[in-house]
Amino acid sequence: MSNTQIQIFDTTLRDGEQVPGCKLNTPQKVIIAKQLDLLGVDIIEAGFPVSSPGDFKSVEEISKIVKNATVCGLTRSVENDIKVAAEALKYARKPRIHTGIGTSDSHIIHKFKSNKDAIIERAVRAVSYAKSFVEDVEFYAEDAGRTDNEYLARVCEAVIKAGATVLNIPDTTGYCLPHEYGAKIKYLKENVKGIDKAIISCHCHNDLGLATANSIEGIINGARQIECTINGIGERAGNTALEEVVMIMKQHPYLNLDTNIDTKMLFGISQLVSESMGIYTQPNKAIVGANAFAHSSGIHQDGVIKNRETYEIIDPKDVGVNESAIVLTARSGRAALAYRAKKVGYELTKLELDVVYAGFLKFADNKKEVIDSDIHEIVKISKIYN
Ligand code: KIV
Ligand code: ZN
Repeated sequence: MSNTQIQIFDTTLRDGEQVPGCKLNTPQKVIIAKQLDLLGVDIIEAGFPVSSPGDFKSVEEISKIVKNATVCGLTRSVENDIKVAAEALKYARKPRIHTGIGTSDSHIIHKFKSNKDAIIERAVRAVSYAKSFVEDVEFYAEDAGRTDNEYLARVCEAVIKAGATVLNIPDTTGYCLPHEYGAKIKYLKENVKGIDKAIISCHCHNDLGLATANSIEGIINGARQIECTINGIGERAGNTALEEVVMIMKQHPYLNLDTNIDTKMLFGISQLVSESMGIYTQPNKAIVGANAFAHSSGIHQDGVIKNRETYEIIDPKDVGVNESAIVLTARSGRAALAYRAKKVGYELTKLELDVVYAGFLKFADNKKEVIDSDIHEIVKISKIYN
């Protein structure tokens, strides 16, 4: 793997599916996994096999059908979790076990009622045990965002020695600021012995709306994998949105970072996940929201009609959206009306446009949006054609 290549680890089917009320069944998960494989994600986290027979079955079925991506199963640092995950992954061409434990004071003291050294011992035991089943073992230090860097470095060093191939540094509670998260990754790169034997992974939650910014800061500081979900879905405020981090790297080539993602599939897969889970995507969602390429104010519409790039930094076709939308509202100008009227068959002269525009404004003041059938009606009542 070249140093400019960022691995995309999709956890839509594991962390993403932790959205309350959005449980998917195995056939739905298999359909999504096939599309993720075609999309070009490098790793698919297919589930948490020990959590339920249904999740075990999903991981097993996904392992059978995925052709290119690594298939990963989550576990706690518990022997039985690891054994069950290995069993669920047995058909995978490229299996990965993702094991780990909480490393912040809050997790060590309150959740485990334990101490720092004992947590390192458990982490090492879990990684060594996972290594007895598969070569590829990812270790997560849960709540790494609130774990002090010096202890986190000790944990990382110990699990690398035990054979971990990937170190996941989750900002589990979405607490870090981008410069803090970036500094954490840099600290690990500079202070963990053997760090070159492992890939550092960013796993950021969106509680403060910073998941995307934190993940990008992480890769700028040396991480080489991002864990993310389609549409940013996930527990509470969700995870890093796959479509956002991928398009940030594509739109900023000077970062010199690349992925294997076929970006033209992004809009379609966003809709598939949203429909399968019954979660509506907010219209202003970056990249895949209904309004991401829609223009409704007169000034913007005029600019986009003259040259799309005036108000768009992404070509909608690059993410699978056919074209930008010029939405007609009471804030729209003559250029937008002429553009939309032409699309439905009226080539208006300047004088005709003046007449139709006056009728349009009266209409638009009473409607949220003027649609194609309204344009026919407005032209008809404007009486410019006999
Ligand atoms: O957010 C988190 O810490 C996680 C781990 C289980 C990887 O999802
Ligand atoms: Zn998570």
